[in-house]
Amino acid sequence: MNTKKEWVLPNLKEAQKRTKQQVLIQRALFEVPEAARNCGLNKKFYLRTYGCQANERDGETMAGILVQLGFTQTEDEEEADVIILNTCAVRKNAEDKVLGELGQLKRLKVENPNLILGLCGCMAQEEEIVKLLLEKYRYVDLIFGTHNIHRLPSLLLQAMSGKERVVEVYSKEGDVVENLPTKRFGKIKAWVNIMYGCDKFCTYCIVPYTRGKERSRTIEDIVQEVEELKEQGFKEVTLLGQNVNAYGKDLYGERKFAELMRKVALTGIERVRFTTSHPWDFTEEMVDVIAEYDNIMPFIHLPVQSGNTEMLKIMGRRYTSEDYKKLFDYIVKKIPNCVFSTDIIVGFPNETEEQFEDTLKMVDYCKYDNAYTFIYSPREGTPAAKMEDNVPFEVKQRRLQILNEKVAGYAHERNEKYIGKILKVLVDGPSKKNDQVYSGYSEENKLVNFTADHVECGDIVEVEITEARSWTLNGKKIDRN
Ligand code: 5AD
Ligand code: SF4
Repeated sequence: MNTKKEWVLPNLKEAQKRTKQQVLIQRALFEVPEAARNCGLNKKFYLRTYGCQANERDGETMAGILVQLGFTQTEDEEEADVIILNTCAVRKNAEDKVLGELGQLKRLKVENPNLILGLCGCMAQEEEIVKLLLEKYRYVDLIFGTHNIHRLPSLLLQAMSGKERVVEVYSKEGDVVENLPTKRFGKIKAWVNIMYGCDKFCTYCIVPYTRGKERSRTIEDIVQEVEELKEQGFKEVTLLGQNVNAYGKDLYGERKFAELMRKVALTGIERVRFTTSHPWDFTEEMVDVIAEYDNIMPFIHLPVQSGNTEMLKIMGRRYTSEDYKKLFDYIVKKIPNCVFSTDIIVGFPNETEEQFEDTLKMVDYCKYDNAYTFIYSPREGTPAAKMEDNVPFEVKQRRLQILNEKVAGYAHERNEKYIGKILKVLVDGPSKKNDQVYSGYSEENKLVNFTADHVECGDIVEVEITEARSWTLNGKKIDRN
């Protein structure tokens, strides 16, 4: 492959390094070059986001930038002038989906050579993937990474005006860039980044390489954003980070998530959520703050990954199964109505039947309301990818199936306890499957479908639960006159 001089390609070795270099909070890094102003007038963009909430939030920033350039958003890729795939690299099947989509999009590119096809997000940070794109997907015009979204106007302009492909992926995370335009996709619920990156280096995970080192935004910037959202009529914010418990360590020299949550709760916004928490540095103070404020929701996503201490050690998770149970018990003691979800990986290299059974026992212990379960997927450049594996794929599939059946059983059992109870539901609108009913989420993060004479999106209503399914609750709105 000939690499062009002006291409900035991802480099795995660089991405693996962590420097002591101080991260700056950049407030004026974003600019639109004169020539790019209005480059999107009478043009449409189509944006497709894969993966986690951090990606969703990045998508809102890209949409904000594109709207500022004059583009309008379309949900129909056939009529787009610019298509951007905002990708996920956490497992191979996420990548395969994107490569499949790229294959489909080739036709549009043939029909309309002026179409700009862009790829960004975590896959763009991977050295091997970018090599593949440059060799086999030559019709991709623009590749940029997670650290230089603020450069989108210049990069897009270059792609639109030149005959060359544009590739700019920084391997080292940059600074924290504030004041980027944003087009929020919702009107009631908003994502709020509190930090970027991850320094945990779980041995299976690619995120520390694709999203760089942990970088916190300031408490003042976050609180101001929440206040503005509240003023605009938003009812709920979700504080986002790969590992929110570590918030503040890099910026203030100590963990400050509890303090941040308190300040966010004091803005008076109706609902505060957060994700994701690592069980390792989940402090008692954090639990106490969640218990203290009514507007911090009693729902915690607490990824366990495995129920076996030896496996957790090889995964680099830094807690034992006993530590996890202790934390779980402490939270339940302090917040008795707390609802838990988790992430679990089965079929990690050399996982024995006994080790897998420990995971099942953990599920029996916690009786999670929900669990996201995955078959281990080797990721280039991670320590686990170098481990030899003696577990056949069929065994991994069987374990996943057994696990999923157990999870669904407890989810249903947990949901049945709500029958006859009254939950406060933030209305999203008419249900997707049946417009005769409304749907929304309860404080405990339960998806509730309910009947009502008339409610508005964004109302918080009381719903009596009449029926429980594994993943949803059904009910009817109650009127107190
Ligand atoms: N294989 C399978 N699952 C993974 N996850 C992260 N990396 C991998 C991998 N290589 C899962 C973890 C994590 C969730 C976001 O994705 O369970 O918590
Ligand atoms: Fe990946 Fe572990 Fe960081 Fe989560 S905490 S993003 S699983 S390295």
